[in-house]
Amino acid sequence: MKLVIANWKCNPATQEEAERFFDMIEERTKKLGKIRNLKIVICPPFVWLSGLRGEIPNLRLGGQDCHWEQSGAYTGEVSPKMLKDLGCDYVIVGHSERREYFNETNEIINKKLLAALKTRLKPILCVGEKEDEEMGLIIKNQLIEGLKAVNRIQMQNIIIAYEPVWAIGTKNPCQPDDAMRAALFIRKILNELYNRKLAEETAIIYGGSVNSKIVLSYIKEAGMDGLLIGKASLDISEFIKIIEQVNG
Ligand code: PGA
Repeated sequence: MKLVIANWKCNPATQEEAERFFDMIEERTKKLGKIRNLKIVICPPFVWLSGLRGEIPNLRLGGQDCHWEQSGAYTGEVSPKMLKDLGCDYVIVGHSERREYFNETNEIINKKLLAALKTRLKPILCVGEKEDEEMGLIIKNQLIEGLKAVNRIQMQNIIIAYEPVWAIGTKNPCQPDDAMRAALFIRKILNELYNRKLAEETAIIYGGSVNSKIVLSYIKEAGMDGLLIGKASLDISEFIKIIEQVNG
């Protein structure tokens, strides 16, 4: 099963546009006819979620973040339970923009991930190094701390997104070879933390300046299990091209 996940970030600016985007994606996805081994996940801003409810099983919703508690006195927060109630099956945790601009530490991300799992949301845990950082050291730490107290059964519901920070929103994507190397490294760490079966079966996707021209190299050459797409997911015809290619 391949995953194409759209991270709309803080876009679009109106509910009307969000619904238009979603409807277009749904329309075009229906026209693909047979959707093979593909799941499309749209992660819009929280406030647009209630207006987006798709009819096709392969088009799902996700949150871009969540709180670590299910309810309570936490002004401004949105809990995993609320996301579930709005029809989400997935939630992104630990995106580099949350780490960078909202001071999220691995410890906080771990709490969010555990709360998401409890609510039966599938967490998409983002890991990746900055330009001046060593990939191995950073990712190992992000995985060890981010996955703390996650057991083997829960691990079956986690997706790891390799998103090198220097490749996000830069028009400078990571070379497929390097993405493959990072994915192998992630599997090695998962083998150390869990076992070989989980290391092999965990979905590892790539994100960072993906567009329709390069998308297949990540799937075919680098063997990634899918993609996390920011900017290109807001250009609907570009996003559809990506979906078409991954669908094959
Ligand atoms: P980008 O964003 O595709 O715009 O680089 C990816 C992401 O932040 O998940």
